[in-house]
Formats: sequence, C-alpha cells, structure tokens
Amino acid sequence: MYNTLNELLRKPKLYEKTQEKLWNDPHISKGMLAAHLNPNIDAASRKPESIERSVEWICSLLPLGTRLLDIGCGPGLYTKRLSERGLCVTGLDFSERSIAYAKEHDAKSQYVMQDYLEMEFENLYDMVTLIWCDYGALIPEDRYNLLDRVYRALKPDGIFLLDVFTPQWNLGCKENTSWEVCARGGFWSPNPHICLNAQYYYSKSIGMRRTVIVEDENIRSFNIWETCFTKQSLSEEIQLHNFIPVDYYSDVEGKLYEENSPILCAVMKKQEG
Ligand SMILES: C[S@@+](CC[C@H](N)C(=O)[O-])C[C@H]1O[C@@H](n2cnc3c(N)ncnc32)[C@H](O)[C@@H]1O
Repeated sequence: MYNTLNELLRKPKLYEKTQEKLWNDPHISKGMLAAHLNPNIDAASRKPESIERSVEWICSLLPLGTRLLDIGCGPGLYTKRLSERGLCVTGLDFSERSIAYAKEHDAKSQYVMQDYLEMEFENLYDMVTLIWCDYGALIPEDRYNLLDRVYRALKPDGIFLLDVFTPQWNLGCKENTSWEVCARGGFWSPNPHICLNAQYYYSKSIGMRRTVIVEDENIRSFNIWETCFTKQSLSEEIQLHNFIPVDYYSDVEGKLYEENSPILCAVMKKQEG
C-alpha cells in the first residue's frame, strides 16, 4: 500500500497518461451527466444562456443546411439547438451515457458514439466544432492526431472551431495538494473513499490535476492535463497541420479577442494541398 501510494503521489512526468476511464466509468459518467445538465454551473458544459449565445453566433457563420460535426458533443446541448436552427448536425462523443441522453432528447441530429481520436470521416463536413477547452486536455500526440482527423473530415475550405484556455487562466495559481474523505461516496465512487488531489504546473502553459481515489481494496488515479495556448502557439500548431487561422475570439460567442482573455476561441480553415 505504501509503495503504491508513494508512487501515485509523486509529480507525474510531463504528459503521463492514466488508463482509468473518466468519461465512461458507470458511476462517474452519472455525475458527469448531472453536471452537464446543471444550469447553474460552468462545469462539464457551460451554462444554457452561454450555449444559446454560442449557437446564435455559430449559426451566423454558416448558411442553412450546412453540415456540422460537433466532436465531444456530450449530451447534445449544442447539437440539438444547432439542428433546430436549420443546420445538418452530427454529434460525436465516446460517452455512452451522454450519447444515449442526446438521442433521447434530439431526434433531428445524428449521433455517433466513438472516440474522436479514431474517427474516419472524409470530406464530409463544412464545420467541425470542439467546445469547452477539450483540445488542451489532450497530450500533444493526441492533439496532432485529432487535427489530422478533423482535416480529413472537413470539405475543402471547411472550418474548425475550437476553444482553449490561455495562460491567463492559471495566472497566480500555485501547486497544491489536498485530501477529502467521502464517507458516503461521492463524485468519483459510490463507495466510501478518500480523494487525494494534487494540482501541478510544468510551465505557465501546462498544468495538470491528479486525483487519486483510495477505496477499501482499490486505488485508482486520474491525470487531467491542461495545456494553455496563446494566439501564437495555437497558430503555429494548427498551421503545421495545414489549417489557416481565420479569426480569434475571447469566447465561443463571437467576442473579438482581447489580450488578457482567459479563453481563446479559434476559427481556422482547412488549407488545400
Ligand atoms: C467538457 S465536456 C464538453 C461537452 C460539450 N462540448 C459541451 O460543451 O457541452 C467533454 C466531452 O468530450 C467527450 N470526450 C472526451 N474525450 C473524447 C474522445 N477522445 N472522443 C470522444 N469524446 C470525447 C466527453 O465524453 C465529454 O462529453
């Protein structure tokens, strides 16, 4: 026990991944869906009023009937609204629970349950969206894989729209550790458990949260990475994968980018050739 915990409580190597299921664990995914649907918190999804403004803005960028793929669509809070406004929408997510919810509440959109790091679409969509800063949660090789797959999924001149955190998001944050006893279960497990939390930073742009869950006879750990981007670092990365930056915004609602914004939303175009 000591050795296992000691190993899990050290600062992980940069971009070390854990194998535990986060989004598809039967218990965690229940709490995650509840968080998506809670209108009072910007947690798994943003609040409904923000989603409405995003949908309004995204629709203003596209003609009716346009084919849009929302990857990491969760329970379909954007896809449903986008379909209702006349776009031809597909939502893709690997969370069984979220896709089941989305299908049940939205007959207009199509839904695919799949890992977006394995999607194989060719030349199908006018726009692909990845919303709520999930791009920065990926390690670099997964980001590059995703950019290539999105590129292939888009039609010529197709648009990829995503948001990321900027280094402003972490400004003033310090490494810290804490623990919590959940005697009656909690978000991570229905059983009594102890939750050991650590927040680590590797630079101004790279941080991670490690959560170690200690149950009676079981220890699990979850690493959640967060890479932040500036306009320059994001531009460099996407251009290496044949995207041309079109515009940058401070949110996914069309507010023009301001230098101290904690959020950066990029609209980029597929470059042919
Ligand atoms: C923070 S939530 C955002 C959901 C949605 N975009 C929203 O803003 O309401 C991230 C979503 O991405 C999904 N996801 C994470 N990694 C994924 C992957 N590799 N393939 C497919 N879906 C993924 C999760 O299941 C979750 O629904």
